[in-house]
Amino acid sequence: MTKRVYIETYGCQMNVADSELMFGVLLREGYVRTGTPEDADVMLVNTCAVRDNAEQRVIGRVGELQRHKRAGDVLGVVGCMAQRLGPALLARVPRVDLVVGPDAYRNLPELIGFACGGQRLSDTDFRSWEHYEDVPAVREKGPTAFATVQRGCDYRCTFCIVPKTRGPERSRKQEDVVREVIGLVEQGTTEVTLLGQTVNSYDDGQHDFADLLRAVGAIDGLERIRFTSPYPTDFTPRVIEAMATTPAVCEHVHLPVQSGSNAVLKRMLRRYTREQYLAVVAQLRQAIPGITFSTDIIVGFPGETDDQFAETLSLVNEADFDEAYTFKYSVREGTPAVRLPNHVADEVASARLDQLINAVRANVRRKNFARIGEAHEVLVERPARRGNLMLARTRGNQLVLLELPPTSLGEYHAVRLTGTTGSTFTGAVVQRFAELRAGPQLVVVL
Ligand code: SAH
Ligand code: F3S
Repeated sequence: MTKRVYIETYGCQMNVADSELMFGVLLREGYVRTGTPEDADVMLVNTCAVRDNAEQRVIGRVGELQRHKRAGDVLGVVGCMAQRLGPALLARVPRVDLVVGPDAYRNLPELIGFACGGQRLSDTDFRSWEHYEDVPAVREKGPTAFATVQRGCDYRCTFCIVPKTRGPERSRKQEDVVREVIGLVEQGTTEVTLLGQTVNSYDDGQHDFADLLRAVGAIDGLERIRFTSPYPTDFTPRVIEAMATTPAVCEHVHLPVQSGSNAVLKRMLRRYTREQYLAVVAQLRQAIPGITFSTDIIVGFPGETDDQFAETLSLVNEADFDEAYTFKYSVREGTPAVRLPNHVADEVASARLDQLINAVRANVRRKNFARIGEAHEVLVERPARRGNLMLARTRGNQLVLLELPPTSLGEYHAVRLTGTTGSTFTGAVVQRFAELRAGPQLVVVL
């Protein structure tokens, strides 16, 4: 009998890409996918371990999913939390049958087979050769797609569990990435996001990230390249040059800073100072006109004083971020920061988070209101949740709601930004944009 598999995904874009690989592994074994856990024979929860609240959410969700479990059904926890907890997770949640880490997805059919036979088992071995090169990722068809170019992480940020859950850094061969993206373009994708934990340290032995950007940028029919997340000190002059001279590379960088205080950055084992970070931002702004920046920031890292936090607040304005994702430090067992002195009281960290969110919001609002009236090229990505609107994205990563029919999915339009909530925009399709950027890729509604 054909088995139906349901996968629920938490966490980062790489997890989304990994779920697509898991579908690839299973569908070629004859499984079919289902979007509802109620009628699934196999339920997998692809998890994140970066913060405790992400894990608590998963535990809650697994509790709900196990209610849909009938005799013979398999419930698996996969991904970073599975890797972090390993067999302990089996002991903790009795109705979980499988615990599978990010390097073991190839073994899913076999593992599920054992689980159907009543065994409860885990596979959390690292396989540093694993790139799932032969696995055809099963993606939602659409104009945008993710392509993992690097797995694992060799950095050792003291707060971060990722090196422990995803193992050592390794890069796919450039030619393999290019082949995959060509395949995506043939399916109608025109924007690809290259994924890696420190994606701009990409090195396949022969090619660096600059080469990769140029090679992917040369693919016919690919209009946009994004990547996430780069590490500040891996923006070599070569990489910046490749970004500036490869037309498909979008004018947006997500550049995690984590803190604005040199003392905190040092305790985090980030390999740059505030000044070096700002210098990288300045170089990118110089080389790539109109570039926008988003970032990740942690507050309440062990030992963070009021003054050190104030330096983070001032950095938000100095770096002039267009968006920032803000987090309260979360203790991860097995990371070096656990042993640092002077952990910050939760109320203090919460108050700092509120202050930071307000600072970010004020900056983003001010910048976005100033953008009203600008003309941008957008790609129509998906229907919006409300009304008959479509959601489109500028190259600088701003979301724009447009009155366009569902058939506009995947089209490029020239729009004028007409309003903003402070974060997202409304826009109107304009006609004259073709003159601003000539090229067959631009579809202009007249
Ligand atoms: N290199 C990866 C980082 C993955 S974790 C990338 O940039 O994609 C994503 C973000 O989660 C980090 O940038 C950091 O801001 C946050 N984070 C990681 N560990 C954390 C912890 N222990 N507590 C709070 N936030 C954390
Ligand atoms: Fe984590 Fe630092 Fe790597 S944030 S993923 S250890 S670059």
